[in-house]
Formats: sequence, structure tokens, C-alpha cells
Amino acid sequence: MHHTLIATLAAAVTALLAFGASAAATLPHYADDIHLGVASCAGSTCHGAVEPWKDSTVLQNEYITWTRRDKHAKAYEVLLNDRSKLIARNLGLPNAHTASICLDCHADNVAADKRSKQFQISDGVGCESCHGGAARWLGIHVAGQANHQANLGAGMYPTEDPIERARLCLSCHFGDDRKFVTHRIMGAGHPRMSFELDTFTSIQPAHYRVDADYAKRKKVASGVQTWAIGQAMALAQIMDSMVDPKRARDGIFPELVTFDCHACHHPMSNVRWQARASTGLGPGVVRLNDANAIMLQAITRRVAPELGQRLSQQMLALHAAVSQGRGSAPDTAKAVGEVARQLVTRFAGHNFSREDMQSMFTALLAQGRAGEFTDYSGAEQATMAMSALAASLRQAGAIDDRQLQAINAALAKCYDATKEDEKYRPQAFVEALAGVEAALPKL
Ligand code: HEC
Ligand code: HEC
Ligand code: HEC
Ligand code: HEC
Repeated sequence: MHHTLIATLAAAVTALLAFGASAAATLPHYADDIHLGVASCAGSTCHGAVEPWKDSTVLQNEYITWTRRDKHAKAYEVLLNDRSKLIARNLGLPNAHTASICLDCHADNVAADKRSKQFQISDGVGCESCHGGAARWLGIHVAGQANHQANLGAGMYPTEDPIERARLCLSCHFGDDRKFVTHRIMGAGHPRMSFELDTFTSIQPAHYRVDADYAKRKKVASGVQTWAIGQAMALAQIMDSMVDPKRARDGIFPELVTFDCHACHHPMSNVRWQARASTGLGPGVVRLNDANAIMLQAITRRVAPELGQRLSQQMLALHAAVSQGRGSAPDTAKAVGEVARQLVTRFAGHNFSREDMQSMFTALLAQGRAGEFTDYSGAEQATMAMSALAASLRQAGAIDDRQLQAINAALAKCYDATKEDEKYRPQAFVEALAGVEAALPKL
């Protein structure tokens, strides 16, 4: 059989299964497909219309949305600014916009033999950085004969699948075994990174509409499922970095990027340490950034209590291995990563009910009262989580518009309390949480 036909059939079969049941797709950056460049998607009869088309299944103004409002379109330009010049100088690079170490995440930096004539690196994070090199699928796709499965079979990346989407976004928003922002790069001036799949999916200006027609063509994950899968995937990928000999260490130190930045970066006169039960650590210790694990505690309590228990124990073991030398950190990180991957599978097959969402929301608030958000990164994740949950509760009809507005008004105080990481005060956040608790209706 012809190999593309086999691929098409395989894609059709996996589509019948739950999210992620298929083998992981190869990321656009690493797959063999030729990348044609943004210009080949941007024609006015393709994706470059100024206004959305009425009778089309897709909006057709995707290019305009991306180029005018999406930061990915500016990701290459950023490499020419003063901050990038400073980073490059500090790292001893000739310049940022020609260095692979920067282009790998700030552009569609595929190998030279995978770039067509129209391809331009200056397009930044373009359509094919996420949707895959278009050489094989452009033809069937433009002829209008392709359904989504045929496109996937011809090398389109399954961005609608929350597991595959998480892997794609995290490959740049945290890094993977081929591209990674180390603490040295941060030290040279790169901004701190944080990511939450559902929130970042929402704040990337949408160039698509999830409506009835979309749902006929593609599986749709709810916001809360997207959030949950994103948390478990992020934890799994952080653990991968701690196991990877290339990324786990820097001299005699561990790679610091997986630690809580503010554990080190705050004035000594500000004595603010507080015990946190889920770490088991005392004062004066460099803590891992465990924000995703804290979120997973809130998610698993009702949805997967047994795996949640295992995760808590493994996390305590990991904190002990890293800070007290009790056990091997890489082995423990590997065990945490395995639990995280089981959680991904569990969440992908779970139908999150309004009772689940309610339980997760109250679990987050209880964590706040118990002092789990003394570290900035936890508070930052909790704020994004509560926004995602509030929106999902509304979508499920569990609360009405007025109730959603009241929750969002209270959440605005959480956003205020986490606006500037360097000025974070846990007490202000706990007070803001009390306001959210008051606004959350008892369902
Ligand atoms: C692993 C992927 C990755 C690598 C490698 C990387 N970056 Fe970034 N960079 C990002 C992401 C993602 C952001 C956006 C962070 C955010 O807003 O959450 C970013 C943000 C930035 C910003 C701030 C942009 C703004 O709009 O203010 C600058 C400047 C920057 N990067 C420069 C560089 C330079 C220079 C290099 C090479 C030394 C580099 N980056 C390497 C992923 C990466
Ligand atoms: C940062 C990643 C990213 C970039 C860059 C990006 N997209 Fe998307 N795109 C997505 C995601 C996520 C979705 C929603 C999930 C899905 O439907 O696959 C999507 C959906 C789409 C859809 C599907 C709409 C539907 O109703 O099925 C089209 C068409 C599309 N994008 C075109 C483009 C074009 C054209 C560009 C470049 C101008 C582009 N995208 C750039 C991530 C991206
Ligand atoms: C090829 C690397 C790459 C991939 C893949 C990628 N991003 Fe990004 N993303 C970046 C970079 C680099 C920036 C920073 C650009 C800038 O500041 O100009 C960024 C910025 C963003 C921002 C703006 C953040 C802010 O602070 O305003 C959002 C939102 C975002 N990405 C969401 C996503 C989502 C969702 C996905 C997955 C569907 C994704 N990204 C995939 C590299 C990537
Ligand atoms: C174990 C402690 C520790 C952790 C955790 C840590 N750093 Fe650092 N950081 C340092 C030290 C030490 C330096 C070097 C300070 C110097 O050169 O004076 C540094 C330097 C920096 C600098 C450059 C500051 C300067 O003076 O030029 C930046 C920016 C930075 N770190 C960001 C981060 C970010 C972002 C994180 C979290 C992802 C982080 N750090 C985590 C210890 C840490």
C-alpha cells in the first residue's frame, strides 16, 4: 500500500479513540516535512482574508489575526531588540537573531533542507511552527478535498488534541531535550517563563472559532480538561529535564531553572519563610518550583485520589532527595514523571462534571488557607486555574453570568496580588482568596 494512504488510515483509526491514545505526533520543528512559509498560507482566498468568511468552515482571516495581534508574529523581531542584544552579548553570541539557541523558539527554525523558496525565518513563530510543514497537506487542503484526518495523515500537527497541544506549546514555553532556556540564559537577561495551557490558549488571540461545525470536524476538549492535562504534561516535562543528563546539572549545582526563582532572588532583609506541608522542607533551602504539582493535588483529590496520594508521596520524596540527599533525585524525578503521565491518560479519558470543577475550586481555596501559596509560582498558577474553572463552571451552566461576574471581580484581586512577582506578598493573596471564596456560590 502507498505509504501516505497507510498514514491516512492510521490517522482515521486513532481519531476514534480518546485524546492522546495515538502515538505522539512528531513536533513540527522536528518532522521531515518541508515548510513553505507564512506567505503560502496568507493568500486572500486562503487564510489572509481581511474579514472572516461567512460560508467557510474556517474563518479565513487567520493570517490577519496572527500578524496584527498574535505575539508569535513578533517573536523573531524580539531578537533584534535591546534586551536580546544584551542577552547575546552576555552569552558571547555574535547576535541573537542568527543564533540557533534563540531561533529555535523565536522562529520556525527548521533545517535548511526543509525550507521552501518562500520560507522566511523572519516570519517568527508562523503557521507551520504549530500546524506542521505544509508541503504534503497544502495540495489536498487547497483543493478542498481533505477532511481533517487526511490533513493529519499528510503531516498536519493535531493542535486540537490537548495532549499534543501541550507538548507543542511546552516545547517552547518550557523547552525540551533539543531547546531549553537554562538559568545561564536567564542570568544573561531572558525573562522568567510561566505557562498554563488553557489560559495561554485563551490569550493567544483566537484565529479559529469552536462552534457546532468545528465540533463536527474535530474533538473538543473543555477548558477544565485542557487545564488538567496541561498541568500534568508540564510536570512530566519538568521531570524529564531533571532526568536528562544534558539539562539536569550545571557544574556542581543542579540546573536552577526548575527551582523557584524567588527562593533565591529576594532581599535578605525580607525574612518571610513559612513552612509548607507539601514540601516537608525547613528554612534556608532552595525549593523546586512545584506549582504544577500543587495544582495536580487539587485536581486529583476527587478525580484520581489514589494517583494523587502517590504524587504527594513522590513529591515529598523528590524535595527530600534534592535538598537533603535522601535518595537519588533523578530516580525520584523519573517516578514523579511516570505518575504525571498516568494522570495525563486519566484526565484525557475523564468527563469533568460540574461537581468535579466545584471540588477542584474548593480544593484550591483550601490549599490557600493551608499556606500552600506562599511561593509566587503557586499563586500565579492558582490564579490562572481559578479563572479557567470559573469559565468552565459557566460553560457547564453551573453558574449564571451574574455569578461569573462576581467571581471574576474577586479574582481581579488575585491578579493584582500576583501582578509583579518581585513584590508578591502571600498574605495579600490569601486575603484575595477569601474574597473569591465569598463570591463562589455553594452549588
Ligand atoms: C525554549 C524556548 C526559548 C529559547 C531557547 C529562547 N527563548 Fe526567548 N522566549 C521564549 C518564550 C516562550 C518567551 C515568552 C515568555 C512569556 O511571555 O511567557 C520568550 C521571551 C523572550 C524575550 C522577551 C520578549 C518580550 O516580548 O518582551 C526576549 C527578549 C527573548 N525571549 C530573547 C531570547 C534570546 C536572545 C534567546 C537566545 C539566547 C532566547 N530568547 C531563547 C522562549 C525561548
Ligand atoms: C502558536 C501556535 C499557532 C500558530 C502560530 C498558528 N496556529 Fe492556527 N491554530 C492553533 C491552535 C491551538 C488551533 C486550535 C486547535 C485546532 O483547531 O487545531 C488552531 C486552529 C487553526 C485553524 C483551524 C480552524 C478550524 O475551524 O478548524 C486554522 C485554519 C488555522 N489555525 C490556521 C492558521 C494560520 C493560517 C496560521 C498562520 C497565519 C496559524 N494558524 C498560526 C495554533 C497556532
Ligand atoms: C516555536 C516556539 C513556540 C511555540 C510552539 C509556541 N509558542 Fe507561544 N510564544 C513563543 C515565543 C518566543 C513567545 C514570545 C513572543 C514575544 O514576546 O514577542 C510566545 C508568546 C506566547 C504568548 C504571549 C504571552 C504574553 O506574555 O503575552 C502566548 C499567549 C502564547 N505564546 C501561547 C502559546 C500557545 C497556546 C502555544 C501552543 C498552541 C504556543 N504558544 C506555542 C514561542 C512559541
Ligand atoms: C539557587 C539559587 C537560584 C535560583 C533558584 C535561581 N537563581 Fe537566578 N541567580 C542566582 C545566582 C547565584 C545568580 C548570579 C548572581 C550574580 O551574578 O550576581 C543569579 C542570576 C540571575 C539573573 C541575573 C541577575 C544579575 O544580577 O544580572 C537573573 C535574571 C536570574 N538569575 C533569573 C532567575 C530566574 C528567572 C530563576 C527561576 C527560573 C532563577 N534565577 C532561579 C541564583 C538563583
